[in-house]
Amino acid sequence: MKLQLTETKSWKALEAQHNAEKQTTIKDFFAQNTDRATELSINNLGIYFDFSKQRVSNQTVALLLELANECGLREKIDAMFRGDKINITENRSVLHTALRKPKNATLLIDGVDVVKQVHEVLEKMSGFANEIRSGAWKGFTGKPIKNIVNIGIGGSDLGPVMAYEALKFYAKHDLTFRYVSNVDGNDFAEAVRGMAPDETLFVVSSKTFTTLETMTNARTARTWLLQSLSDEKAVARHFVAVSTNEKEVAKFGIDTANMFGFWDWVGGRYSMDSAIGLSTMIAVGVANFYALLEGFNQMDEHFRTAPFNQNIPVIMGLLTVWNSNFVGAKTQAILPYENYLKRFPAYLQQLTMESNGKYVTLEGEKVTYSTSPIYWGEPGTNGQHSFYQLIHQGTDIIPCDFIGFKKPLNNLPPHQDYLIANMIAQGEALAFGKSAQAVAAEGVKAELIPHKVFEGNRPSSTFFLDTLTPQNLGKLIAMYEHSTYVQGVIWGINPFDQMGVELGKVLAQGIIAEMQTPNVQLQHDSSTNALIQFYQK
Ligand code: F6P
Repeated sequence: MKLQLTETKSWKALEAQHNAEKQTTIKDFFAQNTDRATELSINNLGIYFDFSKQRVSNQTVALLLELANECGLREKIDAMFRGDKINITENRSVLHTALRKPKNATLLIDGVDVVKQVHEVLEKMSGFANEIRSGAWKGFTGKPIKNIVNIGIGGSDLGPVMAYEALKFYAKHDLTFRYVSNVDGNDFAEAVRGMAPDETLFVVSSKTFTTLETMTNARTARTWLLQSLSDEKAVARHFVAVSTNEKEVAKFGIDTANMFGFWDWVGGRYSMDSAIGLSTMIAVGVANFYALLEGFNQMDEHFRTAPFNQNIPVIMGLLTVWNSNFVGAKTQAILPYENYLKRFPAYLQQLTMESNGKYVTLEGEKVTYSTSPIYWGEPGTNGQHSFYQLIHQGTDIIPCDFIGFKKPLNNLPPHQDYLIANMIAQGEALAFGKSAQAVAAEGVKAELIPHKVFEGNRPSSTFFLDTLTPQNLGKLIAMYEHSTYVQGVIWGINPFDQMGVELGKVLAQGIIAEMQTPNVQLQHDSSTNALIQFYQK
């Protein structure tokens, strides 16, 4: 029988380590080791990853690396890249890393070269993106496309919208991009407000092509289009599909010649660099999309080959385990000091929490430790004028990831200096705080001193890059993808299924049926019955 995580030798050593060092503050760690900033940082792939302001000593990092070894991380990484069916509950390979392999690579899965398949789709996407961008693709009335509306939800929305926002600087600015995800009709209504149907392209993105929200929005889009163009033949010029499900695409009425495929070995939340990125490619152009893929691939290779003590996603994942299971942090803040990354925290929420928000191990046992923290965040400096109060002086420890870039895309001095100075200052303030003595020395009245003290000892990591390019975005996303995998491996859970989203969906289907059946006898609990009745009255 497999040893419970908490019974492993390295876990027990980490518990002892935590007990021995829990009174040692980040400030103490720095005082004890003048080389700490160098020793607890990695500078590779153009990313300066500083984790010296985490609550770890070098010894703790060494023990975390032992934990990784004891949990078989090396073999688990190899198994993922090899295409083993590591998503055991769905009996699937997990091969988002194949989506960004160069064209001359090969990877045979069940006798099929998946890299070849990937590049065939990329080429089809490139041809289509170029046609839209150049105006060669004409709508039904002969006009070029000006508006691109991606309809999708979850991984079929959050990745595209995040990437569009992140790379807006590189986008073709005479095209308008909108993203519709919510089944709330307001989302669709506002997205198409003011758009001319004959200049609008809908990209219906859904891995399964059965998702209630996406199919409802897609049908509404078709009605909206046909109300104006009054001919079913218009659908072929104004709808394309991105999916793994050819049958459902055809059933919906989209010509499968206008379908861009992907495969069951790409999880929804790991799919933004598959054909799900079609709207991204149209926005930023083919070359930039390939640069994004190149960035992903560089991080993949780093993750696959770098020794664990120099491996950015490995260290990140282990720090999350440390913070969650030993320091007792329940959440993780993502704080990009880069406004273009404003949707990055939302994107990471699905990536991390749909992956590791699980209480059952691969063996089907209930875990006896915390798994995924809650990820959340907003771009700096906006957060500083809102929730940072709680990060600095609240009762919970909230590890923070600061993400910043040296060079701004829009150079408007002195903005960048102010932005980056704030990012650096926040990490310093969190780690070192401000003592009562220092407050008193400023002449603060005695009764106010406790209010103005900053305890410090609050952990953070900083990721510093040169500038926000498509390539660097690819690296950052892959970095979090792999950190998420590392966490899942240590916790012994399956990061690649999402059974926890099913129950609510099934119950909603039942309630929809009840709402549409006159005089139905409701059989729920009294609260649910009352809510349905309240809605219907
Ligand atoms: O509800 C969860 C989920 O299955 C996600 O994992 C996925 O990204 C999203 O729904 C959308 O699914 P699809 O792309 O099949 O429409």
